[in-house]
Amino acid sequence: MTAAHPAGAQVGAVVVAAGRGERLGGGVPKALVEVGGRTLVARAVDGLRRAGVATIVVVHPPSEADAFAAVLHDTSILAPGGEDRSASVRAGLDALPPDVTLVAVHDAARAFTPPEVIAAAIRAVTGDVVAAAPALPVADTLKRVDGDDVVATLDRAGVVAVQTPQVFPRAVIRAVGVAGASATDDLGLVEARLAAGELDGRVVWVPGSPRALKVTYPDDLVIAEALARGEASAT
Ligand code: C5P
Repeated sequence: MTAAHPAGAQVGAVVVAAGRGERLGGGVPKALVEVGGRTLVARAVDGLRRAGVATIVVVHPPSEADAFAAVLHDTSILAPGGEDRSASVRAGLDALPPDVTLVAVHDAARAFTPPEVIAAAIRAVTGDVVAAAPALPVADTLKRVDGDDVVATLDRAGVVAVQTPQVFPRAVIRAVGVAGASATDDLGLVEARLAAGELDGRVVWVPGSPRALKVTYPDDLVIAEALARGEASAT
């Protein structure tokens, strides 16, 4: 499928895949873990391509360039990652060709994000929208804790859990990321600039998908394998 890109935008993606995946275990970088016979990073790249994104930078652990090139078959631009996720995003942005004007930043760990969800996040960045991401309403009851103590119940109404890809005009993500800011979530960097009055515009969310789970712990691989089996039987 092809995304209806905002008028005139050249869409590119940065797939951050430079984490070691220590919570997952297994001794290989998480993005190279195979699920249903394909690596998470290859699945993430494929989802972006099916959403109509042609230019994709994959940010890998610096020592793993050959292993990533082998699974991606030259279809992506490779860039070595940094110390934390934000540094890896910056490395990916630096490697994007100059004609890219709209950037989708995606976690390789969210390898099963449906192309429709990716396309919807891209379409949302138009007019005064300076950032968009898929998100899901929260099913669990949320508590604030202090050590072992539960101290408050949070109001779940109006709370969503955000996923990736997170999409921005290139100039916006460049501007909020350059100062060496560190975040687990790029949207947060934009929100902070808006709150400080240093940027104008809106951050919006579009409906995400349970399939866009972030593969983090070994149990997540059981779900991911089931998703892969479902995809295989649907084709
Ligand atoms: O560790 P966590 O799962 O939160 O990482 C989210 C994403 O950021 C993963 O896809 C991981 O590969 C990536 N990452 C990165 N460079 C780092 C740390 C994390 O690209 N230094």
